[in-house]
Amino acid sequence: MEVVKNDGVMGAEVRGLDEAGIGDPETAARLNRALLDHQKLCLKDQALDDRAYARLARVFGEPKVQLVEKIRLEETPEITLISNYNDMAGGKPYVSANHWHTDDSYFAVPAKATMLYAKALPSTGGDTQFINTYAVLDAMPAALRTRIEGLKAVHTYVSRRAKSLVQNRTDEEKAKTPPVTHPLIRTHPETGRQSLYINPNRISHVEGMSEADGDALLDELYAFAFQEKFQHRHKWTLGDIIVWDNRCTLHRASNDFDLTERREFHRILLEGTVPV
Ligand SMILES: [Fe+2]
Repeated sequence: MEVVKNDGVMGAEVRGLDEAGIGDPETAARLNRALLDHQKLCLKDQALDDRAYARLARVFGEPKVQLVEKIRLEETPEITLISNYNDMAGGKPYVSANHWHTDDSYFAVPAKATMLYAKALPSTGGDTQFINTYAVLDAMPAALRTRIEGLKAVHTYVSRRAKSLVQNRTDEEKAKTPPVTHPLIRTHPETGRQSLYINPNRISHVEGMSEADGDALLDELYAFAFQEKFQHRHKWTLGDIIVWDNRCTLHRASNDFDLTERREFHRILLEGTVPV
């Protein structure tokens, strides 16, 4: 197995990982180290069935059984189907999550990492893009950073500031996700590095600030964070499994393709810890 760093701000490719390697402790340690070092890995040329994929996920952490029941796979409920044909837009194909976000931040304990396994890809486009939020914080002007030290933001499933549609949920599912607060700067529990922790799709306001002041601050942070120089782009090939660390990255899906073509992934989220 070989780990090859991508050009640019983040990411590495893992070549030569086979199914036998999934059970090997030394391989597991190398993969976890590589994820901490590079924030996102692409495991190339995989041909795993659902159970083997779920086993691979356990190399990186503990899979979460996900909230929205209707998109879970029956036999392996830790896997959900992410598809532009999941009905969010009244029967029309739609790419959700096409604005910058980090997964699961509307939970008190958000997922530490996310895995996607490509199952169907459009003939062109449909990349997944990333931002390295360690790099964002490292490059942030001191004056702006000082203003956000110690501040917390309120994250909700349906935010008044959200730009993407979110999966419809039952009342019972809604009851499980009251608003939560998270710090705007978080410290990674494994690397000890600090990053900007924002979720433009879920943050409704900054705690203790007026809506107008909070909105102005969030707009300023987002404009800084979304700069091209902090971005990495994943161009999909069938057989790719990617895994990324939600504690130090943002991501979004591109909807720049013929939406009648299918774009589908099997997703697994891994248990995290309370952001601090
Ligand atoms: Fe996402």
